[in-house]
Amino acid sequence: MVVGTQWGDEGKGKLVDWLTETATGVVRFQGGHNAGHTLVINGVKTALHLIPSGIMRPGVVCYIGNGVVLSAGKLLEEIRGLEKVGIDVRSRLRISEACPLILPFHAAIDVAREAAKELAGTAKIGTTGRGIGPAYEDKIARRALRVQDLKYPERFASKLKDLLELHNHMLTTFLGGAQLDWADALKPYIVKGEVQFDVVYNEAMAHAKEILPMVGDVSRDLNAAHLNGEHLLFEGAQGTLLDIDHGTYPFVTSSNCVAGNASAGAGVGPGMLHYVLGITKAYCTRVGGGPFPTELDWETEGTPGYHMSVVGAERGTTTGRSRRCGWFDAALLKRSAQVNGLSGLCITKLDVLDGLQELQLCVGYKLDGEVLDLLPMGADDIERCEPIYETMPGWSDSSVGVTDFDKLPVNAQAYLKRIEVVTGVPVHMVSTSPDRDHTIVLHHPYAVA
Ligand code: GDP
Ligand code: IMO
Ligand code: MG
Repeated sequence: MVVGTQWGDEGKGKLVDWLTETATGVVRFQGGHNAGHTLVINGVKTALHLIPSGIMRPGVVCYIGNGVVLSAGKLLEEIRGLEKVGIDVRSRLRISEACPLILPFHAAIDVAREAAKELAGTAKIGTTGRGIGPAYEDKIARRALRVQDLKYPERFASKLKDLLELHNHMLTTFLGGAQLDWADALKPYIVKGEVQFDVVYNEAMAHAKEILPMVGDVSRDLNAAHLNGEHLLFEGAQGTLLDIDHGTYPFVTSSNCVAGNASAGAGVGPGMLHYVLGITKAYCTRVGGGPFPTELDWETEGTPGYHMSVVGAERGTTTGRSRRCGWFDAALLKRSAQVNGLSGLCITKLDVLDGLQELQLCVGYKLDGEVLDLLPMGADDIERCEPIYETMPGWSDSSVGVTDFDKLPVNAQAYLKRIEVVTGVPVHMVSTSPDRDHTIVLHHPYAVA
């Protein structure tokens, strides 16, 4: 099980791809095309959103579990993009028939809500605008259209009519649909602020023809693969602090990103998860709004935050927005370790810290006159936390591409060892460049304990 321990973009895609040297199946179990996972193989970069990061390794089967909210259109776009560069996707991708569908009105509502917040001068979540939240709302309200409905046009049409009535009411009455004019991607669906039934229906039926051959009972397939002795890998999207329950609520995404949700979101028993690898940046980043206790000024040249932003190329894979940057936060990591049951850490982007003279490591916070060693829950309290830092010496030698722990600069080794002590989780892997091969293995996740 691979999970992001911070606010996403920790480098999960790189590590999932690396682990497919051993794993024969990769499973997405939550989130949707809000995710952006970058893989670099022999210098060639591939960005994935919905398709599991096992797709670049021939023979690996990729599963989209029931916990994922699926935009059929975006999935087909991604498939076609990969096919253009010669990757066989359709024979290796299995989609759960129980996935709720993301339809164009979900994105319309997502975008309109954020615009309404901006107009009202209230804090935006800073969503990716992909309709993720509204699609999960329909799921929880027990009215979602699911992938399996694509098989039956009449059933689909009747459910779609009901759903559109509700959402168009929401768009026109509460969200002033006319403002949607600026959202180019949504224009084809909207007339006078209302999403049009025919356009959505016809498009969905066209998508159905291509999607349905890949649809099946993913839970059954995964259980069969497990009984067959295959190594499966569950790929978390987003990160623990974006989890709907355990994150910096309400500045979170609308699914559970924690390891335990792999079971519900894929349809397998929790006993199947033997090892949880926490992918952890050597510093912290966040895209969108919400509290970030160790955030630095990352826009002023010459500052450590600017260094992280530029050297780390910290721009969102999905929306292209700049990622906010800050120091490593061990008190945050402790919450992640607690809610995920981490077996080990993979520290990524260590190379980005090369050349910084000093590093600060947050070990706790001051809040209301008390000292905390664990991130509190929810944005309101987190916003008031004042970080407590330990200072560590930096290093000037390069760690880029190092694949042997002993060859890392001595101060980089000390930084990693200190992270183990202050988080209470062993470092099992280290990543020293975007490339698949630039990875240090101290304990292999598939090694028998
Ligand atoms: P994910 O969402 O967790 O899969 O992460 P993203 O792919 O969105 O963002 C991580 C970025 O860092 C990508 O551009 C990766 O290519 C890059 N990356 C991953 N590991 C390393 C590393 O060890 N060093 C450097 N310099 N870049 C890395
Ligand atoms: P990966 O898998 C980083 C953030 C958005 C926003 C919040 C809610 O690449 O790590 P949403 O569109 O999900 O309703 O937005 O969550 N967010 C991510 N940030 N990486 C991601 O995915 C993210 N997916 C969503 O920026 O703050
Ligand atoms: Mg990402």
